[in-house]
Amino acid sequence: MSITPAIWATPQTYLHHEQPDHPMFFFIPENLKKSADLFLQNYPGLVSYAVKANDAPEVIENLVAVGVGAFDVASVAEMARVRGVFKGAVLHYNNPVRSPAEIRAAMDFGVVSYSVDSVSELEKIAAIVPANGVEITARLALPVAGAKYDFGDKFGAGPERVVELLQRISALGFNPSITFHPGTQCADPQAWVSYISVCADVAVRAGVRLARLNTGGGYAAHRGQTAPDLVPIFTAIETAVQSAFGKAAPKLVCEPGRALVADAFVLATRVKAVRDDGSVFLNDGIYGGFGESPSMGTVDRVRVMGDNGAIKTDGLQPRKAFGPTCDSLDTLPAPVMLPDDLSEGDYVLFSGMGAYAHATVTRFNGYGVTDMVTVQQG
Ligand SMILES: Cc1ncc(COP(=O)(O)O)c(C=O)c1O
Repeated sequence: MSITPAIWATPQTYLHHEQPDHPMFFFIPENLKKSADLFLQNYPGLVSYAVKANDAPEVIENLVAVGVGAFDVASVAEMARVRGVFKGAVLHYNNPVRSPAEIRAAMDFGVVSYSVDSVSELEKIAAIVPANGVEITARLALPVAGAKYDFGDKFGAGPERVVELLQRISALGFNPSITFHPGTQCADPQAWVSYISVCADVAVRAGVRLARLNTGGGYAAHRGQTAPDLVPIFTAIETAVQSAFGKAAPKLVCEPGRALVADAFVLATRVKAVRDDGSVFLNDGIYGGFGESPSMGTVDRVRVMGDNGAIKTDGLQPRKAFGPTCDSLDTLPAPVMLPDDLSEGDYVLFSGMGAYAHATVTRFNGYGVTDMVTVQQG
């Protein structure tokens, strides 16, 4: 498998030449390679990609091309998607709740690792999947700060339940492991350090030696003016594991989604109207590529390209921005900084739109960005 060749130099060259009237995603394989290299060269363990962040075959292909061979899949459709691109993919099924039919399908796909956060779900797997060599990871949830939003409400068990789960996993003959997710867009190493110390304590209380520990996703992507530095987080993880587990230190696995793929996409929208009050209608909104902006905020790396292909930078001011549907909820959650000479027909380009944008687009009202073009640079 090789890296996808870029056909256009930049989003601007494409937009200027083609003048599309619909929103477009631009894929930048070079940026995906850069983030993958950062994880592959610095994370002290196995890097598994959380496919839910962006399941475009181009993304999976390009990750495989640079050396990512393990994938966190949330559904049978994601298993099929990954295997369709790379037959040798190692699959971790870390959506903690599954139907028996999904478990049977996972077994047929050769899933090697499952996560659980309740005994009932563990028993469901054990009734179908033979233990030999299969890993089951107990998902721990703690009240830890630092992320943009916390996942602990929906998934994860407290330390007491994880002790019970580890003992039961072991008794059933599966390889016991622990996983956690500190919440997405987390830039605070202390979140991982707190989790790791409780993981070590829980393993001792359960009387179980962990072969592996999964330190989750959650690693922050570039939002705002400066890119987060993930290397100190990787170092903090390694140090915390050594100090908490000592000689019993497990092998590590991470499963980033956002931080791997966010910078690999630019979303280009077009100005449909500039209203009398200065607010703006774009041709994409929260039912399209901005689906997570109500919970995460809108990305703020924004450029505007005018008719002549030049970037407009004068008199940047905050403007209210609406999406194209007839639903009044379809409004970006915070004003967007846009130039004072913004005009109908201009393109507004949002960088860092690779995660949870392409994967969550709907066709509500007949809108929704579906086109994707590969470029050399964003
Ligand atoms: C089990 C699991 N692992 C990894 C991820 C990826 O998280 P992120 O995109 O914050 O890195 C998620 C996100 O929902 C998840 O549920």
